[in-house]
Amino acid sequence: MATPETTVRDIALEQPASIRVFENFGIDYCCGGRKPLTQACEEQSIELKTVMAALEEATATGQTESRDWVQAPLEAICKHIVERHHAYVRAELPRLELLAQKVVARHGSTHPELEQIQQLVESVGEELLQHLSKEEMVLFPYVTNLERNLASCGPRPLGCFGDVRNPIRMMMAEHDAAGDALAQMRKLSHNFTPPEGACPTYRGFYQALSEFEKDLHQHVHLENNILFPRAIELDESCG
Ligand SMILES: [Fe+2]
Ligand SMILES: [Fe+2]
Repeated sequence: MATPETTVRDIALEQPASIRVFENFGIDYCCGGRKPLTQACEEQSIELKTVMAALEEATATGQTESRDWVQAPLEAICKHIVERHHAYVRAELPRLELLAQKVVARHGSTHPELEQIQQLVESVGEELLQHLSKEEMVLFPYVTNLERNLASCGPRPLGCFGDVRNPIRMMMAEHDAAGDALAQMRKLSHNFTPPEGACPTYRGFYQALSEFEKDLHQHVHLENNILFPRAIELDESCG
């Protein structure tokens, strides 16, 4: 059971239902999740007991974001990430870029922050697409082969990167950069809140950005907190 001293990351790992609660309160459980719950609440100016009550309720009612991936085979985790999160990013980016173009054209003169958000969408989009390809072409096949070879007592697969920690470090730095870009967009848009009387496109754009950020957090949580530590452990056990 979570206590005020348990880290946000550990709560998210032990109780997948807590992820929705953290999202609702704007608490970072992936890149910035290595801090005690009490500190995370303080930083967000939220009462600890409110969050504890919501966590308890979510766990009791069995609300769950997805299956518990902590024990799943690494191959299944990689497959799930590609089919669910990578496919979502690839489908959503062109839509976000189109919405950004429309709102900048119509409202950019009265809301100069929209142009900054548009630039962030484009730069983070370009970086993310390269990031997904690196995972799919290099890191995930290596991890999948490592697991298979170990199960059949075969040799360690050949990697083009030396230690598996090297590409993992690079992927985690890229996760931080993408998370920071989304956080900047959130700040510029006042928590993705459209101005009063905003048109449906404006609302749709901010709604889509908010959902994109949620999906990114779930995606990064699976990689940083579950897949990568287990891949490193497996690689080490290969001797
Ligand atoms: Fe990924
Ligand atoms: Fe990633």
